[in-house]
Amino acid sequence: MPTATVALLPEVARFLDTDHGLIIGADRPPASDGGLIDVFDPANGRLLTRVASATASDVDAAVAAARAALPVWNALSPADRADLLWRLGDEIAKRAEEFGQLETLDNGKPTSESGVLDVPLCASLFKYYAGWATKIEGESMTPSGGGAFHVFTRREPVGVVGAIIPWNFPLLMAGYKLGPALAAGNTMVLKPAEQTPLSALRLVELMLEIGFPPGVVNVVTGDGPGAGAPLAAHLDVDKITFTGENATGQKILEASKGNMKRLSLELGGKSPSLIFADADIDKAIAGTFGAIYFNQGQCCIAGARVFVERTAYDRFVDGLGAKVAGIRLGNGLDPETTMGPVVSAEQQARVDGLIASGVAAGARAVVGGGTVSAPELADGYFVQPTLFTDVAADMEIMRREIFGPVGMVGVFDTEDEAIELANATPFGLASGLWTSDVTRTHRVVPQIHAGVVWVNTYGMFDVAIPYGGFKASGYGKELGREALDPYLQTKTVWIDLGG
Ligand code: NAI
Ligand code: MG
Repeated sequence: MPTATVALLPEVARFLDTDHGLIIGADRPPASDGGLIDVFDPANGRLLTRVASATASDVDAAVAAARAALPVWNALSPADRADLLWRLGDEIAKRAEEFGQLETLDNGKPTSESGVLDVPLCASLFKYYAGWATKIEGESMTPSGGGAFHVFTRREPVGVVGAIIPWNFPLLMAGYKLGPALAAGNTMVLKPAEQTPLSALRLVELMLEIGFPPGVVNVVTGDGPGAGAPLAAHLDVDKITFTGENATGQKILEASKGNMKRLSLELGGKSPSLIFADADIDKAIAGTFGAIYFNQGQCCIAGARVFVERTAYDRFVDGLGAKVAGIRLGNGLDPETTMGPVVSAEQQARVDGLIASGVAAGARAVVGGGTVSAPELADGYFVQPTLFTDVAADMEIMRREIFGPVGMVGVFDTEDEAIELANATPFGLASGLWTSDVTRTHRVVPQIHAGVVWVNTYGMFDVAIPYGGFKASGYGKELGREALDPYLQTKTVWIDLGG
């Protein structure tokens, strides 16, 4: 049965039909070598449009444009910069449906999900950081040794920031980087993921329409080696902010050393969910379902490594299994769809392969465990929502970030065992804890090695609340006031008053 998809908005159809050059200053040049990237609709594998594939010389031009715009951006008053950021938030909110459709076409996610998370959070974060643009202040200080000095600090922008972002939340990740970096007075070169370049292009077009000075944000669409690597190594880029795979983060760290550029690295995870028998089990099932399967499981914070106290195990697995079996795969533009395709044919093959490795290693697929065979889904990049039990710590599915709709449920008997299982990963991005015992909560939270602990909830995000990883999940917080710090540097000024 073909899915009943909603018709595309005229502005979306028009956008797909335009020439997607790079955005460098006010210009929309093609790639210097004429290279193009095909952009596919993950729901049916159809070619949507093509975008320019930037080269190292295009990256040079974008960095030069950002450098030239730095004094222009900083010549605006903080209130004027705040005004632009606020208007951007407003315009995104007004175009929620347009951005939602673009994200679904590009990434595959259901519009029902982007409509409650990606688009509204992106709009509100620009308004939140608009507020900070007028509140970036240094301090006046007294030297401990006394003396006739006036000492103060200035909080200055780092300079030109390169943002390299992934494909799982294309618009939102752009916002995570642009909001605080621009509020802090930096200018930028944005490199979206090659799989999902569209919403970033539309976002920065919109910024130019609203009146952001050309060059404040430049966009180099392109792949990792062609556009990402030269940006990461560029000697005139002061900072890279990156979200993506750990191995890519390591390459960026290497590439940064030429000029000791600043780095923020958000490198994903293998986050645990711990369910104690004293928890509200129905609530834990619903929350853990979201923790694993939201966004087709393509979340850096996916809490898919689940451990349940033995006495609650059967009830939990039955309840969660029923929910997974009820997932309705389809085109994300269909309002009935509860799970769309994964982002690309490559990602589909990768996740299918990991599911097969779990089966081969002896994990039991309570739901799924195979590949999608329905004829109406055959041309899209669909993956079977899968729930595994009987998992062991050394299985590939328990060690690698899967980034697909796959959950693994294990069992524990004691609190100490639960904590040990939770921490048995090099990553430390997020975690879930389900218990109604407040004493246990306070005992367990400090022992979990992760940047976020969600207690009796999962995946809560708010523009005002910082978020980021421990251990191999990287460093540099996003959102909240703390996210401004990595985009600022403190200059200390001593003035001798002795004459
Ligand atoms: P990736 O880390 O390679 O891609 C993320 C971004 O980095 C893209 O814009 C890409 O073009 C860029 N990039 C790639 N190589 C680069 C290089 N050498 N220098 C500079 N930039 C470079 O992730 P990929 O290959 O798309 O996905 C593979 C796996 O990584 C996923 O299956 C998932 O497990 C993980 N991943 C995790 C994410 C997270 O949010 N934690 C996001 C995306 C992927
Ligand atoms: Mg890669």
